Amino acid sequence: MRLPGRHRTLLLALALCALLGLGCPLSCEVCRGPGHTCSGRMKTCEADKDACVVLVGEASSKGRKSLTTFKACMKFKDCYSGFVSTTMTPGDYMVSNAHCCQTDGCNSGSVPPPLNNRTENGLTCPSCLAPFHETCPGTQTARCVGPETHCIYFAGNVQAGIINTKFAMRGCATPSACHTQPGAEVPSAYYLYFLRRADCDRALYPLGRGE
Ligand SMILES: *[C@@H]1O[C@H](CO)[C@@H](O)[C@H](O)[C@H]1NC(C)=O
Repeated sequence: MRLPGRHRTLLLALALCALLGLGCPLSCEVCRGPGHTCSGRMKTCEADKDACVVLVGEASSKGRKSLTTFKACMKFKDCYSGFVSTTMTPGDYMVSNAHCCQTDGCNSGSVPPPLNNRTENGLTCPSCLAPFHETCPGTQTARCVGPETHCIYFAGNVQAGIINTKFAMRGCATPSACHTQPGAEVPSAYYLYFLRRADCDRALYPLGRGE
């Protein structure tokens, strides 16, 4: 069988790592860009990253909205396939849809952009958004929208490009946000979050103090 040199080398490497009983490294497409999809180069994942993710997210920061796609390697246990919505204030929210998979290049396609239902559902959560801080008091109130029925308190570090800083945030979220565990490394459309704290509780109706 005649194969181009690059393919022959790849096949040989895969045959060898299978033969030696080593975990063969996964390859994923890696990119970040505006819009419904992005395309980039294939990358061999670090040994502890056993999944590829494709995530499309709509974020609003102080009322400025944008749609971004993100593709990368990540840990399968930290990866959630599906829809996540979080709301801190009416102008600060994120909705995303993601697909996690575990074969080479399986994230090269796209996922449908998330539905963004901004209709208030009557539930509320303590709210705050504190970049550069480890905790935040939640003295404001977030009004939950669409399918958001839970309150989150996430804190840790956030990586934005070359900047890595502490952050804390509290607000409303879909139950799917409760899959996130402390220690997880989770992407949003723009940032990579390293979570030290990931609390998640049922939201209360407006008259309760969601604590
Ligand atoms: C949007 O959310 C509201 C409140 O939860 C709900 O009543 C409504 O059915 C949702 N609309 C759609 C199109 O999902």
